[in-house]
Amino acid sequence: MKSLFITTPIYYVNDVPHVGHAYTTIAADTLARFWRARERDVFLLTGTDEHGAKIEEAARKAHTDNQTFVDERSAAFRNAWDQMGIQYDGFIRTSDPKHKTVVQKVLQQLFDKGFIKKGEYEGLYCAGCEQYKTPNDLVDGLCPDHKRKPEVMKEETYLFLLSQFQDRLIDAIKSGELLIEPPERYREVLGFLTSQKLQDISISRARVKWGVPLPFDPAHTTYVWVDAFFNYLTGIGWEGDPQKLPKEWPVDLHLVGKDILRVHTTIWPALLMALGISLPKKIFAHGYFTIDGVKMSKSLGNALDPVKLANEFGNDALRYYLLSEIPFGQDGDVSVEGLKKRHTADLANGLGNLLSRTEMMIEKFCGGLIPEKVSPHDALSDVDALIENFKFHDAVKRIWKAVGWANLYIDENKPWALAKAGEQKKIDSVLSEVASQIVEIAKKLSPIMPATSQKILARMTAEKITRGEPLFPRL
Ligand code: MSP
Repeated sequence: MKSLFITTPIYYVNDVPHVGHAYTTIAADTLARFWRARERDVFLLTGTDEHGAKIEEAARKAHTDNQTFVDERSAAFRNAWDQMGIQYDGFIRTSDPKHKTVVQKVLQQLFDKGFIKKGEYEGLYCAGCEQYKTPNDLVDGLCPDHKRKPEVMKEETYLFLLSQFQDRLIDAIKSGELLIEPPERYREVLGFLTSQKLQDISISRARVKWGVPLPFDPAHTTYVWVDAFFNYLTGIGWEGDPQKLPKEWPVDLHLVGKDILRVHTTIWPALLMALGISLPKKIFAHGYFTIDGVKMSKSLGNALDPVKLANEFGNDALRYYLLSEIPFGQDGDVSVEGLKKRHTADLANGLGNLLSRTEMMIEKFCGGLIPEKVSPHDALSDVDALIENFKFHDAVKRIWKAVGWANLYIDENKPWALAKAGEQKKIDSVLSEVASQIVEIAKKLSPIMPATSQKILARMTAEKITRGEPLFPRL
């Protein structure tokens, strides 16, 4: 079977890794782990987007040359994911000479096939997005994402004839060739595509030096988005020949934030159509979150550093919090306070306490041996289907229902009272039930909280159970 090819966006290196980037990456890692545990070969690709005016500007502000700047910043992303235990299979950088060569090959092909034409482009350009905006996109004349007024830009440029692909894009989306999830996002994209005429887009910049030069006119560099999209092919080793695609292709799942859904459902598939390359199978757009109710922004300095959070609370606690706090696909809010609360209530008092009191009782009342199982049950059987369908939040809820249930079961059956009364059979029955429940919980948790899951399984399969370290030391 073909390996399951999952991608994250490649992140702009003008910013340092923040919890928003970590969110998509953790979700992708969770899905990758889930499928690997089900014997699927998985290829998880992430990386960094390193060209364009925004990055040129950031490098200048940092008083470094562009390449040194992107080298350092890209390493910061890679280190963050390494420290957070993200198991990516590929990390692509757009400043990699191999990537640049392929981008040039692709542009030459598009040019030769007549899909790129010289022209003039005038539009409202938001440098924050590195995108032209339509008047419909603006709120009170400002880019809603960057709260800045787009500049009117008129330039000689090369145009990609996107307008020619409108009908084929609509067909691909309607027919399910290119799936878009969740359903409200599918409707949104289709609404956009069917309500206005797609315009040809400018794919070159004469003013921006930091980019991939157009092979047929080196005075221009390639528009960063076109450059960036091809990471999804160069990241698996594609060399630029549409007849020779790497075995991982097509992408099974592009995970993106809703901010970049439209470009992924218009420009990107149209470029692939123009080259005669099969489309990605599915694009899932998750929501955006604020921090303490405020939009994350560099100027406010309120972006949360995921590595710092992971160091303070643990990788798994951060994964747990982000995936369970907001239903995947919806917008929401996160905060350090919220993370602390959930850490105490759900992790230290919930799962952690369940494990340690069970260990303690098995040690004390059963000589450290898990009593033989008395009544089997499979309460957690729907968790897999939830994760498979991106419902991380519901999956966690379901698992924590089992945690609560097991803690309650102990409270109600009071093994300590049974011990006093000498009711060993009943103790065995209660603790075997709880122990098997904990093992089940740990197994289901493994894609979401891999380290915690492993710890629990190791402890619950030890030859002799003894009360161990708290899973989640109280803050
Ligand atoms: N470089 C482009 C993507 C090119 S992909 C071919 C880009 N980079 S970015 O650094 O701005 O990353 C945007 C992505 O980061 C979002 O799509 C989302 O995955 C993630 N997030 C950034 N901020 C976020 C929130 N506040 N909330 C949720 N996700 C966030 O766009």
